[in-house]
Amino acid sequence: MNKPDLCVAKNREKVTIDYINLNLDIKPVFKGKKYFLRTYGCQMNVHDSEEIKYYLEQLGFVPSEKLEDADIVVLNTCAIRENAKDKVFGYLGRCKHLKKIKKDLIICLCGCLTEQPSEIEEIIKKHKYIDIVIGTHNLNELPKLIENASGKQTVEVYSNSDKVYENIKYSRDSKISAWINIQLGCDKFCTYCIVPFTRGRERSRKMENILEEVQYLKDNGYMEVTLLGQNVNAYGKDLDLGYDFATLLEKVAKIGIPRIRFVTSHPWNFTDKMIDVIAKYPNIMPYIHLPIQSGSDEILKKMNRRYTIEEYKKLFDTIKEKVSKVSITTDIIVGFPNETEEDFKKTLDIVNYCKFDGAFTFIFSPRVGTAAALMEDKVPMSEKEERLHKLNELVNKYSLESNKKYLGKVVPVLVTGPSDKGINKVCGYTDTMKLVNIDGSKDLIGKIVNVKILDAKSFSLDGVVC
Ligand code: 5AD
Ligand code: SF4
Repeated sequence: MNKPDLCVAKNREKVTIDYINLNLDIKPVFKGKKYFLRTYGCQMNVHDSEEIKYYLEQLGFVPSEKLEDADIVVLNTCAIRENAKDKVFGYLGRCKHLKKIKKDLIICLCGCLTEQPSEIEEIIKKHKYIDIVIGTHNLNELPKLIENASGKQTVEVYSNSDKVYENIKYSRDSKISAWINIQLGCDKFCTYCIVPFTRGRERSRKMENILEEVQYLKDNGYMEVTLLGQNVNAYGKDLDLGYDFATLLEKVAKIGIPRIRFVTSHPWNFTDKMIDVIAKYPNIMPYIHLPIQSGSDEILKKMNRRYTIEEYKKLFDTIKEKVSKVSITTDIIVGFPNETEEDFKKTLDIVNYCKFDGAFTFIFSPRVGTAAALMEDKVPMSEKEERLHKLNELVNKYSLESNKKYLGKVVPVLVTGPSDKGINKVCGYTDTMKLVNIDGSKDLIGKIVNVKILDAKSFSLDGVVC
């Protein structure tokens, strides 16, 4: 095993990137066998699972709804907070039991947890029945590892990646909306965050390859693409080819796919040029996820977030002013080490100022290997929970307020699938990323339809096609 290194300085070293064009020849040697795949965590993991699915299906596996019927179980894990791990252990327990009955069962662990040395070394030792442990940088080795699985544990985890693979094939979950990686890894080293360690250095894909992928998806009937990166506004910086995220976004817009989205934007280095491009093209959706993390300058500094609250407010106001009807959502962490009541009040103040359309809120979870995990923290968990509760009440109030503004309006909705709110209902998203449940038949799926909004809740809208 090429061990991931916990030394922050080493992980910060610049690397020269190798661009590799994949051309895998995968034989269906497991024809008729079944796979069970579970995915935890962010969109990046969801998209990685589409790559995993492609490999499994090329090998001949078909999906299984039940773990007990599977010949291979793949768990694509997340490491961002402690609770993401607990769910994986539930499945591992079942796998261990199943393997006693089904000797040929292949168990594979991948995703961010495998890139966390403190975790994975213990897991490997304790759970010897796991056949394959594969890191986040070399997923394309999965078909070979599965083919060669022999009952002996194989660990293929690399700490630093200096590679960008092109021509990756995916078995996509949707025929309407597609994820596209534009950038891998992260160099920001926010002090609480494990991502720079699990996903490696910031690496941008070359623009011509991204544009080709968008064109291919458009030609194949896709209505929407979401450009993915931990920090999309840093796109291109590592390439030194004279283009940036605004250049890419504009070129993607010109291809003419009906809807373009991107996540995640860092408030640092979100340029006016980017705002102008977003404002100019109607097929770039007026929706920005702009994590703020805290309302206190002191905490932001300890988090190494590289902006002050005044700077965030200025950016927020400029986006609101220039991009018509834009919706903005955010991420907020409460209970960062030694966060004072005063710091927390400042977080409530900024939420009152921005009135976000939505917010993902979290209690700080120390991640071994990050700088914040070593910081002194005297705030009791009960206090952190109380702060989260207060914050959620405020955040939900503003989500509801913002949703209520849609009442009676007619808005375009891209219908993405059946709704879980009833058999004669479908659901989709407004351009501003509001979830809408619609009375209507499945024929609407894949179309952009005008919907009259009749009801508004904190997390969704209800409407009818008009
Ligand atoms: N503890 C709590 N929340 C975290 N996030 C990232 N790392 C941690 C952590 N250690 C949150 C941040 C980030 C989102 C994806 O997850 O808010 O924006
Ligand atoms: Fe983590 Fe910060 Fe990078 Fe986001 S920008 S992935 S929070 S280190």
